[in-house]
Amino acid sequence: MFIERRPSFYLYAVWVRMLSTVRLLSACIALSAFSACESDRKDSVVPSDPPPANAYTDNEATRDGIGRTYFGREIAQVMGHPAIYWLERGTRESEERTDLLMQLLGVRDGDDVADIGAGSGYFTLPLARAVAPNGIVFAVDIQPEMIDFLAARARTENVDNIKPILGKIDDVCLAPSSVDLVLLVDAYHEFDHPWEMMRSIARALRPGGRVALVEYRAEDPDVPIKPLHKMSQAQARIELEAAGLFFERNDSSLPIQHLLWFRKPTQ
Ligand SMILES: C[S@@+](CC[C@H](N)C(=O)[O-])C[C@H]1O[C@@H](n2cnc3c(N)ncnc32)[C@H](O)[C@@H]1O
Repeated sequence: MFIERRPSFYLYAVWVRMLSTVRLLSACIALSAFSACESDRKDSVVPSDPPPANAYTDNEATRDGIGRTYFGREIAQVMGHPAIYWLERGTRESEERTDLLMQLLGVRDGDDVADIGAGSGYFTLPLARAVAPNGIVFAVDIQPEMIDFLAARARTENVDNIKPILGKIDDVCLAPSSVDLVLLVDAYHEFDHPWEMMRSIARALRPGGRVALVEYRAEDPDVPIKPLHKMSQAQARIELEAAGLFFERNDSSLPIQHLLWFRKPTQ
């Protein structure tokens, strides 16, 4: 979907069959697998402040976009759940050095982490193991199929410190000051309300908490990803700094992605 090479659909088909069985056997559990949106609770409602003037514009959509731009960047279409096979492809670790990314995140026992746009849970499960037994990973996505998939996987693999959350397009649905780290891998460029999402992420972070933004490098024409699914460092800084986060550094260790570190002010 995003690159030319297409791994076999076989693995995905097996997963879907397994999931169907799990769903049939535990339909009731599945219905309660999602957590309620924390922001719906009276005590945690923080109305979103308005976006900067003229930050959003609406135009005709290009091929992979939704037409809406944010600080001049056209927002990409959301990657649908049938592309789980692509997130789970066997070549991903070597192509993206996802193992190295896990090391660079530096999470440890007791950290509370939010994996926003968690998809199939590719990073959620290793994160949960890294922060256990005292930490928790909130896995947020707007597609119920993604949440079902990662929740079923966590049950199968006996990982019990993951809290799956069906988010909203403009709200991560986390309680204020509840996480130390927010991980955004290949997801931010799809947010159709990036201002509202980043403001809700900033609220969910504890003072001094970090955001790790991982996006394919737009500056590099050799990165074989569609343009709207890449981001430049300069664009990312404009957008996340507008939401009140401080840019700390770009760790350039990954082969085809930026790892951009941002932080919430301590006060
Ligand atoms: C390309 S996938 C990446 C999944 C995962 N981070 C990974 O790297 O394997 C992007 C995910 O972001 C999710 N997403 C898009 N907009 C979102 C939003 N506003 N809130 C939460 N998730 C969102 C999509 O549903 C999709 O599952």
